[in-house]
Amino acid sequence: MLEIDALTKRFGPNTAVDAVSLTFDKPAMIGIIGASGAGKSTFLRMVNRLTDATEGRIIFEGTDVTALKGKARRGWQSRCAMIFQQFNLVPRMDVVSNVLHGTLNRRSTLATMFNVYPEADIHRAIEILDRLGIAEQAPKRAEALSGGQQQRVAIARALMQDPAMILADEPIASLDPMNAQIVMDSLRRIHEEDGRMVIANLHTLDTARRYCDRVIGMRHGRVVFDGRPDQLTVGVARDIYGAGADFSESATSTDLETLDRQPDAAATAKAFV
Ligand SMILES: Nc1ncnc2c1ncn2[C@@H]1O[C@H](COP(=O)(O)OP(=O)(O)OP(=O)(O)O)[C@@H](O)[C@H]1O
Ligand SMILES: [Mg+2]
Repeated sequence: MLEIDALTKRFGPNTAVDAVSLTFDKPAMIGIIGASGAGKSTFLRMVNRLTDATEGRIIFEGTDVTALKGKARRGWQSRCAMIFQQFNLVPRMDVVSNVLHGTLNRRSTLATMFNVYPEADIHRAIEILDRLGIAEQAPKRAEALSGGQQQRVAIARALMQDPAMILADEPIASLDPMNAQIVMDSLRRIHEEDGRMVIANLHTLDTARRYCDRVIGMRHGRVVFDGRPDQLTVGVARDIYGAGADFSESATSTDLETLDRQPDAAATAKAFV
């Protein structure tokens, strides 16, 4: 489905992503973990073509995504919708208009200028909001919503594009635990019910273990782990985050000692959804 071949990004002398090669055979829920600066965001931004790769290729269903330009590149960006830690909504605009922004790529400039949306799109936007449990928020300004609700609006906007995959860069890093859970549950459901691939950069190990089918660990721009959540042992986690004294419990919010006692994280994730 998606093939990443020696993808590299350099910023001057600094290699942010270093010859990353990964194969994604089928839509799955994938978590990318790693210390700050490991290259997680840069990787997702390259996949979405927000940032150009310095070297390497991204192949999606036979198409070389790295070579796409102009309209084709924008088309790709709607196939792999991106959501961000800070939601990136238009704060003063109402929720439903924010969601309808997800159709911008396929609308004329004129229609956009006058804020004219086809009725079918409006209905679909409300349906998606309803699915995410926030339909009653539709007329409110985005800024009036809680963080967790705003992130669900961002997910709704992404779904409006009917994407093959959702790329989420730290989608719950700004949320309290309860809202974090609601947002992760939503992403998991979208994966399971719609068969969309979800790739999420996650800053906590627990979240990756709880929700993902596959976890990729990055360190200094390289992939240092690629496996099932139950293969994330103490040693592996230390490798990913940089061993020993550097390891910050608060950065990953996982008690490392409990890792070994919960070998079947995949089953936990299933029971949870
Ligand atoms: N636009 C940029 N210009 C220069 N250097 C950059 C730029 N973006 C990222 N970098 C560098 O690339 C490296 C990887 O950054 P990236 O943001 O991808 O890491 P990350 O894993 O997402 O970290 P975090 O967990 O803090 O979000 C870092 O050394 C960073 O300083
Ligand atoms: Mg980042």
